[in-house]
Amino acid sequence: DESAFVYRFEPGSRAGAPPLLLLHGTGGDENDLMQVGATISPGSPLLSPRGRILEHGMPRFFRRLAEGVFDEEDVRKRALELGTFVDGARQRYGIEAPIAVGFSNGANIAAALLLMKPEALAGAVLLRAMVPLSEPPSARLDGKPVLILSGQADPIVPAGNAARLSAMLSDAGANVVHKILPAGHQLSQADVRLARDWTASVD
Ligand code: MLT
Repeated sequence: DESAFVYRFEPGSRAGAPPLLLLHGTGGDENDLMQVGATISPGSPLLSPRGRILEHGMPRFFRRLAEGVFDEEDVRKRALELGTFVDGARQRYGIEAPIAVGFSNGANIAAALLLMKPEALAGAVLLRAMVPLSEPPSARLDGKPVLILSGQADPIVPAGNAARLSAMLSDAGANVVHKILPAGHQLSQADVRLARDWTASVD
């Protein structure tokens, strides 16, 4: 089954709290971001799939040829597959389109999903994201809110690449906030705080 992801789902406990789609980094799993999600948006329904690609045993959301060099055909295919999973989960659990919260590889597939199938997401928090597709389809993001948090000293994501992603999503019509933190590739407390404040402001 194309959309058979291993996943966790936590129902919401606060009326109207936006559902979050949690997307882990390379080598992570469906448990990784549950705590981060609960902190970013207390009481939100949490939908957290595990990436179905294995790279030397490490789960990911799409194939890559090297670090930072993506198999773009696979990126497209896997983004649509993730969109199908989200649609199915929305029906099963009766939730609205979620805000994606993705880290690293999870942020990259979230960006690809925004470009490939914008209606799947209400918005996105992209933590240490890169441009996922060099020639993206012409998406209409119609004011969708997107927060990009980049690390000033990220050895995996060059500053220019994050800036290009920000421009790509803005050009497609998203309402992008891009902040560059004094951090590397790893998440910091500032990421969680900024993501929490931003999510509360778009809720
Ligand atoms: C990716 O493959 O998506 C990026 O290189 C980030 C990573 O997972 O290391």
